Amino acid sequence: MRAPVMAAPTIRAYALDPVDERRALVEGLLAPHASISPKYFYDARGGDLFASICRLPEYYPTRVEAAILERHRLALRDVVGTRKELVDLGAGDCAKAPRWFDLFAPTRYVAVDIARDTLARALPALAARYPAVDMHGIAVDFSRGLDIARDLRGSAATFVYPGSSIGNFAPQDAFALLRSIRAHCVVAGSGLLIGVDTKKDPARLVAAYDDADGVTAAFDRNVLLHVNRILGTRFDPEAFAHVARYDETHSRIEMHLEARVRQAVVIDGATRTFEHGERIHTENSYKYALEEFGAMLAHAGFGGVRVFQDDERDFAVYYAA
Ligand code: AVJ
Repeated sequence: MRAPVMAAPTIRAYALDPVDERRALVEGLLAPHASISPKYFYDARGGDLFASICRLPEYYPTRVEAAILERHRLALRDVVGTRKELVDLGAGDCAKAPRWFDLFAPTRYVAVDIARDTLARALPALAARYPAVDMHGIAVDFSRGLDIARDLRGSAATFVYPGSSIGNFAPQDAFALLRSIRAHCVVAGSGLLIGVDTKKDPARLVAAYDDADGVTAAFDRNVLLHVNRILGTRFDPEAFAHVARYDETHSRIEMHLEARVRQAVVIDGATRTFEHGERIHTENSYKYALEEFGAMLAHAGFGGVRVFQDDERDFAVYYAA
């Protein structure tokens, strides 16, 4: 029997400088207000824990976004159009790809994610399921701006950035990222479909980031195991408590790891003491009023911004042409 003829998906990896990455991580941990970039959540176990978070009753964003896409599918297909190149930002395991294929029938699928191995595993399986779609993966950290024009065809492209991942960035950085996405929309018919979490009752927000089963707590603590592997440190995740709180002035959920006891950790040859109650900041998740994010898209150079929501207005999906 002959194997079916199928073009294997190509993957381009833009390697990060491991020395720079390490230095930034060490600097964050040794700073007076210690922090770890949320990108370190996503090792293999972190990816699995995040998938579990998405199924939690308290964590509404994934479910509500899916419901919005389903409810407004015809209108979305109408404004976005079909048979274009589709660029999936933060594609990860490409779990949402079948939904994009179903909605927009793209001719080419470009999965962009920082996790090279996750892409390398997901894309061949996806290509086998959808042999008519040309596929390409790009392993890159686009947190400081997107620069992937050489990997695109130069035809009309739909960029999708779902899940409210934009919320991890401070508004200025989010704006810079939007502008860099806008710069890739050179051909008429191109645009950005983006999911954004809205402001709401802080109690509901906090519950979404501090669930009763402790899945988010495990996700937060797991970052220390990832850091241990990268830096050779000996953080004990159990010595830290997961804290989620809503900061009204910045309209953001903050996650922190709070030292349960005073402890010392050797980091890159330096001894860092964490006092009892001292916190390591691990994540921000910004929430936007409807018109705030719409204005940001317009400012970034997009036109014809449309927004799609659920009845409760718990989440928003924007299409910016
Ligand atoms: C992947 C950044 C969208 O901020 O809601 C979920 C990450 N952290 N629970 C979010 C997250 C804790 C998530 N994003």
